[in-house]
Amino acid sequence: MSEQPLHDGANRDENTMLVVAIDGPAGSGKSTIAKKLAIELGIEYLDTGAMYRAVTFAVLRGGCDPEDSTRVASLARSVDLSVNGDGTVTVDGVDATTEIRGPEVTRAVSTVAANPEVRTELVSRQREWTRRRGGGVLEGRDIGTVVFPDAALKVYLTARPEVRAARRAKEVTDLDYDTVAADLARRDAVDSGRQHDPLRRADGAIEVDTSDLTIDEIITVLVSELR
Ligand code: DC
Repeated sequence: MSEQPLHDGANRDENTMLVVAIDGPAGSGKSTIAKKLAIELGIEYLDTGAMYRAVTFAVLRGGCDPEDSTRVASLARSVDLSVNGDGTVTVDGVDATTEIRGPEVTRAVSTVAANPEVRTELVSRQREWTRRRGGGVLEGRDIGTVVFPDAALKVYLTARPEVRAARRAKEVTDLDYDTVAADLARRDAVDSGRQHDPLRRADGAIEVDTSDLTIDEIITVLVSELR
């Protein structure tokens, strides 16, 4: 699609890193768009939601109460996480790729993600991940507002609630539409209403409603914004 590379990867230093920040609620199309855009730009992609899910997996696996903020925070600081470009996730050496998307983790993740010490730890890991790679496309809830407010491109994706619920219901085949829609509404409320780094559109972010656009149409808009 692009005639010339927009990025020369590892040759960039901290001041010239190419960072793209993609935020938005669940089901707004973040992962699909972020992955495709990263390929288009020749840079790596990080799913920061998978990091919050991975910490939540470690919390549940360790028999820890997600509401026990002190224990959860200390676990977040010590856990060995690896979130890979191919979608696989390991937590302290255990493959958690499937479990982090399961109902137990999905139910508890908003509580863990509302913990300010967990956020501080994961934001620092996300910045380090990006620095080591000379940039990247990062998707989450606070990338443009907190993690990289100076990103070259900040994007806020939205979609109509019924479109988002239908997309999620397709991904999680074991739950019906109504259950998925109710869970999305609950997580939206917690993620947008929490005290620390709530989901909101960053200053200077371009907002794209993905409900009626194709992936290629969205990528074209974003690449042209970057140029
Ligand atoms: O994108 P996701 O549904 O996999 O994210 C899981 C949870 O993590 C979501 O409920 C909000 C939280 N999250 C966050 O608080 N900050 C981020 N940067 C990414 C995700």
